[in-house]
Amino acid sequence: MFPQGYTLGSCLTVNLTPKELDRLIALVTPLYLDFSPESTPEKIRGRLTRDPSTAIDLLYKGESLVCFGVYYARKVEEKKICFRDGIVLKEGERNQGFYKEFVQLGLDRYPSDLLMTRTREPRVYKTLRRFAESGGLYPREGSTPPLFVAEIAQLFCGAKEASDFDPVTLVVKNIHTDEKPFLKVDDPGIMEFFARYLGPRDAFMVVVPTR
Ligand SMILES: CC(C)(COP(=O)(O)OP(=O)(O)OC[C@H]1O[C@@H](n2cnc3c(N)ncnc32)[C@H](O)[C@@H]1OP(=O)(O)O)[C@@H](O)C(=O)NCCC(=O)NCCS
Repeated sequence: MFPQGYTLGSCLTVNLTPKELDRLIALVTPLYLDFSPESTPEKIRGRLTRDPSTAIDLLYKGESLVCFGVYYARKVEEKKICFRDGIVLKEGERNQGFYKEFVQLGLDRYPSDLLMTRTREPRVYKTLRRFAESGGLYPREGSTPPLFVAEIAQLFCGAKEASDFDPVTLVVKNIHTDEKPFLKVDDPGIMEFFARYLGPRDAFMVVVPTR
């Protein structure tokens, strides 16, 4: 799955002792801050312990941590959901398809009807689209999300005000405190889609029916 020289570690954070959780937070913090410099230890702790099902996968190259991915499982109206709650891959280790492997790990652990995340990264969208069953993913050009998709997206979106979430475009307004340029993907349609709908602090709720 991962090339030689890489090793994977995984755990449910609920199973960690307080000391082990502190060590895990210290371990992921440098990568986390590379991606999100304004984050704090408390925010990181909150992300790692958001749900009793929260799991983390850690990828090492030799002794060095090069990626972590966090996700949790929920059931809403009989739909099993795997919510991807963050991934950071060290620069220099990107563009090798590792993101797809991480998403698959989560689905293997939590076989799900819906894969979800909140993102402003075209690369995330492009990879998640690979997991979409024939109907495709939401949001997408020319397709209004069904009501249940809009409702579930709203439940998970984290918007402060209901009016910050658009149930048609699945855009969450002003959810980020910083501004970042998009990482480029080799699909101009996706780049254009993101540029058209997302302001500098916005994100999409991405909902992927997987089966
Ligand atoms: C988002 C992230 C995990 C994706 O990992 P990655 O190694 O860059 O991406 P992958 O190699 O798995 O590729 C993802 C997609 O982007 C495309 N892509 C990756 N690098 C690319 C590049 N340099 N140019 C064009 N397209 C590229 C790939 O074609 C791939 O699409 P596919 O799955 O359909 O083949 C990584 O870029 C990262 O850690 N970014 C910073 C943190 C972040 O933004 N996290 C997401 C929070 S929601």
